[in-house]
Amino acid sequence: MAAAARARALRAQGIDVISLTLGEPAFPTPPHVIEAAHQAALHGETKYPPVNGTPALIQAVRAKFQRDSQLDYSADEIIVGHGARQIIYDALTASLEPGCEVIVPAPYWNAYPLIARMAGAEPVFLPCSAADGYLPRPETINAAITPRTRWLMLNFPNNPTGAVCSAARLADIATVMRAHPQVWIMCDDIYEHLIHDGSAHATMAAVAPDLASRVLTVSGVSKTYAMTGWRVGFAGGPARLIRAMSRVQGQSTGGVSPVAQAAAVAALEGPQDLVARMRTTYAARGQMVAAALAAIPGVRCAAPRAAFYVFPDISGVLGRTAPSGKVLATDAELADALLADAHVGCVHGAAFGAPGHLRISTAADDEPLREACRRIATFCASLH
Ligand SMILES: Cc1ncc(COP(=O)(O)O)c(C=O)c1O
Repeated sequence: MAAAARARALRAQGIDVISLTLGEPAFPTPPHVIEAAHQAALHGETKYPPVNGTPALIQAVRAKFQRDSQLDYSADEIIVGHGARQIIYDALTASLEPGCEVIVPAPYWNAYPLIARMAGAEPVFLPCSAADGYLPRPETINAAITPRTRWLMLNFPNNPTGAVCSAARLADIATVMRAHPQVWIMCDDIYEHLIHDGSAHATMAAVAPDLASRVLTVSGVSKTYAMTGWRVGFAGGPARLIRAMSRVQGQSTGGVSPVAQAAAVAALEGPQDLVARMRTTYAARGQMVAAALAAIPGVRCAAPRAAFYVFPDISGVLGRTAPSGKVLATDAELADALLADAHVGCVHGAAFGAPGHLRISTAADDEPLREACRRIATFCASLH
């Protein structure tokens, strides 16, 4: 968000900045979704909604979990929030207190440690390597668990790496988790429909049904249906956790706008072929950007398996001097220089617990992406 704000500020000065900072699809929200919201507003769905979600959306979310993951949640096991972000906030706030620990495999979406800290808990990071496909090893998870551990955060497909976790690897993690009944598992599946290498999405509650009583399965409409601004996310989990989350949400924001919830129903229940089209586009863009960056001396970059980020290892470029005379010692300094000198906004890897990388969002359109790659290559060539 901060990187996006810096890019916007430069653009306001009239500078032609290409901002690849946010994970925000450039596609418009599908027209039938907008039409459903319009009709909902016209038909009086303009009052305070139930805190946990409208009956129609709760039903649509139950059907979605059944259709996509063969998970059977009852209505009291579902909650709708203002994006997956609030769902995660509700869950951690409801369950953590000072002294608790939350295991966060790295690279991670940076909201996890920040929300855990807001709840007074300590994130415990588990570095995952590119050689391991950016997946946490079961034995490393086991070694990180202490009596204070409350949550294991799993996010596959992953932001920022695009890593995908197979059912077999989740089953191995489940084996470890069976020995630690005090630890809950959060599966943030927000990119579940954006796997572009053909592999299947797997989620813990389906892989290990015996653990489902301590698994929260999180998803939403932001990424799948290009609906980031509508602020609708949801989760399925045990009723007692959902009740506790509902108390947090009830005293913070209350329920999500019924107009937005009607839009989410239309997205979940309407035609799904547009998701496949977007996925194909993201796959092509990921490959195009990864290939262009990998051609830059000092940059290593594999095409992502999922989502819409490319996560190059730029450690080979660090330590060089920009034409401005500044030595670029860290990924943050490189990202700053790219914005100031090449007018390309991206996010430094340290923000995701992976110094030496950049995260480049490929949710933008083709031409700005191509031009951004040209600018990055020209800038790197100018370093000495
Ligand atoms: C891994 C991950 N989880 C959750 C979210 C939040 O999504 P939402 O728009 O539903 O709040 C994001 C958004 O960037 C994300 O990358």
